[in-house]
Amino acid sequence: MNNLNIKENDLSELALTETVGNIYADNAKMSIRNADVYYGEKQAIHNISLDLAQHQVTALIGPSGCGKSTFLRCLNRMNDTIDICRVTGQLMLDNDDIYAKDLDPVLLRARVGMVFQKPNPFPKSIYDNVAYGARIHGLTNNKTELDEIVETSLQKAGLFNEVKDRLKEPGTGLSGGQQQRLCIARTIAVSPEVILMDEPASALDPIATAIIEELIDELKEKYTIAIVTHSMQQAARVSQHTAYFHMGKLVEMGKTEDIFTRPEHKLTENYITGRFG
Ligand SMILES: Nc1ncnc2c1ncn2[C@@H]1O[C@H](COP(=O)(O)OP(=O)(O)O)[C@@H](O)[C@H]1O
Ligand SMILES: [Mg+2]
Repeated sequence: MNNLNIKENDLSELALTETVGNIYADNAKMSIRNADVYYGEKQAIHNISLDLAQHQVTALIGPSGCGKSTFLRCLNRMNDTIDICRVTGQLMLDNDDIYAKDLDPVLLRARVGMVFQKPNPFPKSIYDNVAYGARIHGLTNNKTELDEIVETSLQKAGLFNEVKDRLKEPGTGLSGGQQQRLCIARTIAVSPEVILMDEPASALDPIATAIIEELIDELKEKYTIAIVTHSMQQAARVSQHTAYFHMGKLVEMGKTEDIFTRPEHKLTENYITGRFG
């Protein structure tokens, strides 16, 4: 898009607000324009603009501390829970400004769900973990309807067959990979439109990771997904779009295959070829 004349390893070039690649989608589910994020005086995100394409997976990659989690948390106002954190810019979910004063962050987080690095089931039964959000949001009228939501959510999360005979047992008794799928089922139970995942497989073994990656591929048919990952192999396997972050800035975004085979920016190339990060 922009023909930047970049010197190798010249970080000052990042002061530019332009990024290379294609940051705008034809079918945007979320559109972020000129987002800045501050922790107190310190700026963690600098003027980031990008779209999340509907029913596709967007991977956010970049060295540790570059602002991936901070940016992800902007998308469902999880940063609101951090006192010193301040977000500016325009962040839209369809036609809704998610930072509008009259927008309820609790309802927003049902529409834009989040799955964390470490599986964090509640100290409750498998059933109650999944039923939790549906109960809070009053999504059902009776037990039969709630049972149905729990079952279909566990099915969509690829967990139902493994737990159907022990729904009353604690969620914390499951394996790590099963706990993460339980957390995905809990997120799905409130019918989100977008699912944010912050390194969802980084605490899991390779087999559990492969199951989660397959699941992400299936989930994109119903949901729009943004995933932070430190694994470039994972980004390449699960995503259609990749955004490369560096020191709080978006360096480059594009089709995943393009980012990994012919990055336009030297910083991206250095990262994906393992020269730093
Ligand atoms: N709660 C917080 N309070 C203050 N600074 C934070 C907080 N969370 C993250 N940061 C800072 O913001 C920057 C980006 O961090 P983070 O979003 O966690 O990066 P990443 O997820 O890419 O590793 C880092 O400099 C980090 O120290
Ligand atoms: Mg992080």
